[in-house]
Amino acid sequence: MLKTLGAQVKEFKKASIATPLFMILEVIMEMIIPLMMASIIDDGVEKGDLHHIYVVGAFMVAAAAIGLFAGIMGGKYGAKASAGFARNLRQAMFENIQEYSFSNIDKFSTAGLVTRLTTDVTNLQNAYQMILRMCMRAPSSMIIAMIMSFYINARLASVYLVAILILGTCLFLIMRSAMKYFDQAFPKYDELNASVQENVSAIRVVKAYVREDHETSKFHKAAENIYKIFCKAEENLSFNAPLMQLTVYSCILLISWLGAKMIVGSSLTTGELMSLLTYCMNILMSLMMLSMVFVMITMSLASARRITEVLNEKSDLDNPENPDFDIPDGSITFDHVYFNYKKGAGEPVLSDINLSIKSGETIGIIGGTGSAKTSLVNLISRLYDVTEGSIKVGGKDVRSYDMETLRNEVAVVLQKNVLFSGTILDNLRWGDKNASEEECKRVCRLACADEFIDRMPEGYNTYIEQGGSNVSGGQKQRLCIARALLKKPKVLILDDSTSAVDTATDAKIRKAFLTEIPETTKLIIAQRISSVQDADRIIVMENGKVNGFGSHEELLKTNEIYREVYESQTGGGGDFDEKRGE
Ligand SMILES: Nc1ncnc2c1ncn2[C@@H]1O[C@H](COP(=O)(O)OP(=O)(O)O)[C@@H](O)[C@H]1O
Ligand SMILES: [Mg+2]
Repeated sequence: MLKTLGAQVKEFKKASIATPLFMILEVIMEMIIPLMMASIIDDGVEKGDLHHIYVVGAFMVAAAAIGLFAGIMGGKYGAKASAGFARNLRQAMFENIQEYSFSNIDKFSTAGLVTRLTTDVTNLQNAYQMILRMCMRAPSSMIIAMIMSFYINARLASVYLVAILILGTCLFLIMRSAMKYFDQAFPKYDELNASVQENVSAIRVVKAYVREDHETSKFHKAAENIYKIFCKAEENLSFNAPLMQLTVYSCILLISWLGAKMIVGSSLTTGELMSLLTYCMNILMSLMMLSMVFVMITMSLASARRITEVLNEKSDLDNPENPDFDIPDGSITFDHVYFNYKKGAGEPVLSDINLSIKSGETIGIIGGTGSAKTSLVNLISRLYDVTEGSIKVGGKDVRSYDMETLRNEVAVVLQKNVLFSGTILDNLRWGDKNASEEECKRVCRLACADEFIDRMPEGYNTYIEQGGSNVSGGQKQRLCIARALLKKPKVLILDDSTSAVDTATDAKIRKAFLTEIPETTKLIIAQRISSVQDADRIIVMENGKVNGFGSHEELLKTNEIYREVYESQTGGGGDFDEKRGE
């Protein structure tokens, strides 16, 4: 963990070293001042030596100025190092998340990742700043003050030792009980973020189902939990200040009393007593600081662990050592393919899939929800890797290709698709960032998206809101298809991508595919038989297995599931899942 985090702070090594050094300089100056004060009182005021007062006074001003300067510089470098640390952490995490495969993403929840990138990093940043500034300052201030006090008067200074012991024990006990609550707080933050994230990104659904009250109460509960935990923790911490004051004033009383006796007995000077009182404050303040640092560190340990997890997560899909950049054609072969989302977990999602698809073929895929259609096609572009067996595209194993090349040649229009904020052209150019406007218009014609784009006041420069909220479901699907077409892929996979498009337009898109991109292998997942019946061949999926594979006519004759669904859809207009009783 330290190594991972250390790598991110390396850039700020100088600032990280300078901060504690400046802090120590500040402490030294602070510590010299009481000594000078003692000298002014004892040698200047008491003896009436005005010259001595001027000289030492001048030194005191200088020491104070140096101390102030050191304090400012320490603060400056501390802020620079910790803020830089946080920036590097966030960037490194974000970059690593971009590398994640689908299964890596499955492992962390989105809300969890958001908390880690925001709250956890902020925590660590604060802790780091505190550590840089206090970890050297507090102990050195305590030690120097202690040495000075013993040097002045060992008997009186031992009062501090007793005070430190008592205060230290009490602080430790308070911290320990407060810590218990802080530890509970972080998982609650995840809950809070999950509630915000889920609700805000799905606010339309929440409204459609009139679930605002339910969602609000869920959020209230999450916020209330955090409130309670922090109240409890702070309640504990609130004992700190009174305890501290009690100890400080007891010490001052004790030292004044004992000191006064000593002064009367001439074994202590007034100046020395003054310095002792200042050191007393110093020591106890440092102890207080240390206890706070201690809390910060423990609080941030949980955050550090959560950040390291994200940083150390390795994508489980690697590019091969000598990647192949050439995909000869769009043929696809499945050879005894088994697949599971989590390794070694129960029944495989796909079992023993054997398929051979020729380049340029149009393949329909049909099956009930959960029959693993999406899982089947996601394996082709290596969104996940097979558990057993192999998949070949263009005659070569998909794992031998350069990943970027493979994903460019095998374009998938995902079932859960999204558009990003930006103009229509911006969104299309995700497919090919150098595409000309003409080229973009051509693919939109292919995907039948041109008709509604032309009707928009700003045409291809119409601004799409985040998540594509200002276009309809069917329009979004057609834009997504156009975006994939812009890649000029050898294999095009449409995962239920025309479900919100009307039947006539759906047919028009398929016809355009047939005439305009005949060399591209097309895999079309659909719920409607009409969407696949004119395909060259159709795969019928059932419970993660291929139940039938053949042309519409063949399947009508040989495949019972296919025939039932066909009859229900042509007869009563029923839908695939209803018929199958799922
Ligand atoms: N990301 C995932 N993690 C774990 N299980 C999944 C994931 N996606 C799908 N599944 C499971 O795999 C099975 C097949 O799902 P899927 O391929 O999406 O079916 P279909 O696309 O035919 O509706 C389902 O039982 C589903 O619960
Ligand atoms: Mg699916």
